[in-house]
Amino acid sequence: MRILLTGKHGQLGRCFQDVLTRANHELFAYDSAELNIADAQLVAAIIQQVKPDIIVNAAAYTAVDKAETDSENAYLVNATGPKLLAIQAADLDIPLIHVSTDYVFDGAAVEPYLPTDETNPQGVYGASKLAGEQAVKAECEKYIILRTAWVFSEYGNNFVKTMVRLAKERDVLNVVADQYGCPTYAGDLAKAILRICEQYEQGKVLAWGIYHYCGDSPISWHGFARVIFFKAERSGVIAKRPQLKAISSDQYPTPAKRPEYSVMSTEALADIGVQASLWRSSLDMVLRRLAV
Ligand SMILES: NC(=O)c1ccc[n+]([C@@H]2O[C@H](COP(=O)([O-])OP(=O)(O)OC[C@H]3O[C@@H](n4cnc5c(N)ncnc54)[C@H](OP(=O)(O)O)[C@@H]3O)[C@@H](O)[C@H]2O)c1
Repeated sequence: MRILLTGKHGQLGRCFQDVLTRANHELFAYDSAELNIADAQLVAAIIQQVKPDIIVNAAAYTAVDKAETDSENAYLVNATGPKLLAIQAADLDIPLIHVSTDYVFDGAAVEPYLPTDETNPQGVYGASKLAGEQAVKAECEKYIILRTAWVFSEYGNNFVKTMVRLAKERDVLNVVADQYGCPTYAGDLAKAILRICEQYEQGKVLAWGIYHYCGDSPISWHGFARVIFFKAERSGVIAKRPQLKAISSDQYPTPAKRPEYSVMSTEALADIGVQASLWRSSLDMVLRRLAV
């Protein structure tokens, strides 16, 4: 099938291209310079020319703190962009696979968020992503929105790579211990998206809507760092684990407020034939790749 991918240089974009090399599909992949998803004319021209069977939107404005003072651009990429893609998807009567975030929630829950739970973003990034979800829902019928969280991979910037770098530079590290979420390997998310594409190609009736795609077990940032250091030392990525100190969110202020509890339920994923990211084993694989 003909798959159009946006944001090809991001973590998800690169992982999606990797999984596609082992599959028999025609990929039309674009970076932000080739296809700015906020440019209505360009989006229409490229999509109408390629005539894909499905669109995968891996493009996003992901600088959570910068978004607080750059909301115009955050909304352009995270809300206008998905809207324009959805308009084209509706025009061609093809599905749009779009990716959103746990930051649409306020983090005040005490048990895993369901896709149907009330949203209440606490910052510009989360609000702009929520606006993107709403635009997709309004503009096209055939859509799957996958809300994900705490994305890591061998590519780009992410918590795993930051921890590995800091472990090589410092003996002691302070990491926030009062925020909980579900780490997600971008490669697992990419495989899940490919599986959704292929089910659609095979004519399976997909239940369009919003799903939560994230790691199978929750942890705090501090706990995640502990796991990373343990595995990184064992696989030879770092020579020695640094001393890890637990701190509170108050001790690590950021421009954008982070949700305290952004654990999401992945139960509904079975409805679209995919399973949650087994993040601990995926982390082993990412660390092996970082070791070479
Ligand atoms: N990373 C996380 O922890 C996390 C957590 C929850 C949800 N998510 C969501 O997961 C998805 C994938 O995230 P990721 O970690 O792969 O993001 P990423 O690594 O930051 O990649 C995003 C990509 O989008 C591209 N982009 C930015 N503006 C664009 C535009 N106007 N037109 C086209 N492309 C544009 C960027 O290209 P340039 O670099 O050229 O600007 C970048 O390659 C996003 O929807 C994100 O909101 C991520």
